[in-house]
Amino acid sequence: MQTLSDRIGVITGASAGIGYAIAKQYVAAGARVVINGRRGEKLEAIAKELGSDKVACVAGDCADVGVISAILEMAEKRFGRSADLVVVNAGRGLNGSVMTSDTGQWEEMVRTNLLGAAHLIRMAGTKMMAESAALTGPAVLTRSRDIIVLGSTVGRHVSPFSSMYGSTKFAVHGLTEGARRELGPKGIRVSLIEPGFVVSEFQGVAGYAEKWVEETFARIGPPLTPDDIGRVATFIASQPKGVHVADVLIRPTRQDYP
Ligand SMILES: NC(=O)c1ccc[n+]([C@@H]2O[C@H](COP(=O)([O-])OP(=O)(O)OC[C@H]3O[C@@H](n4cnc5c(N)ncnc54)[C@H](OP(=O)(O)O)[C@@H]3O)[C@@H](O)[C@H]2O)c1
Repeated sequence: MQTLSDRIGVITGASAGIGYAIAKQYVAAGARVVINGRRGEKLEAIAKELGSDKVACVAGDCADVGVISAILEMAEKRFGRSADLVVVNAGRGLNGSVMTSDTGQWEEMVRTNLLGAAHLIRMAGTKMMAESAALTGPAVLTRSRDIIVLGSTVGRHVSPFSSMYGSTKFAVHGLTEGARRELGPKGIRVSLIEPGFVVSEFQGVAGYAEKWVEETFARIGPPLTPDDIGRVATFIASQPKGVHVADVLIRPTRQDYP
């Protein structure tokens, strides 16, 4: 197993939850990372905790192409090389179905979960491809390059209770597999992680009722922790250059569905 000591990472949605756990584990494995989220003060505190020589921050909306450019440029400016380990993580849930969820939140969710992911995959993928444009065959594997995307079990199994959120993740799964087919032959690994229930700020942001969360966690729990997903993201990124773990579905043991 390789370490991540020569890797430059970018992680969106790293001010909390899964993104923060991935940032912590990547830095512990030797990577240097650019972290993003809208809450700049949280990012700064995390940089201080993990080491400001290893962590740079770019605060802002992950769906804004200006912010995405700034994140990718920060990797080069601070660490002297373009990012080779991009985690497309920022996202949010939404309580309810197509029939019952708050329509006032649909656009923001689609923008964050789908358009933000699409822009980052495209902009990071373009930079990665440019690096090996002159190479052919196995020579394209000169450097490990990863784009790791957070999907969900509700992006694979239709859930009537969160079908609007789930539909954004179905779309993200499609984008990720499409990008894998396009970029894999160029030596860029595009991977999907599909978590089940993970305890984080996610439930509060989505607007799930506390009682529902308690009952659900009691029924299927213990839920996953962000660190469980961090280990998967580290496992994927630390494979030898010619080995691609393309898709990992991870649930709490007692979660039957979705
Ligand atoms: N928790 C689960 O059960 C679960 C299950 C399956 C998949 N997932 C997916 O895993 C990913 C991370 O979720 P989580 O559980 O870690 O949720 P979380 O604890 O709520 O963290 C979400 C992160 O995304 C950031 N974020 C949200 N909107 C953003 C925006 N527009 N621009 C920049 N950053 C933004 C938040 O930071 P700021 O508020 O500072 O912007 C925060 O750092 C999401 O894509 C989610 O859909 C979660």
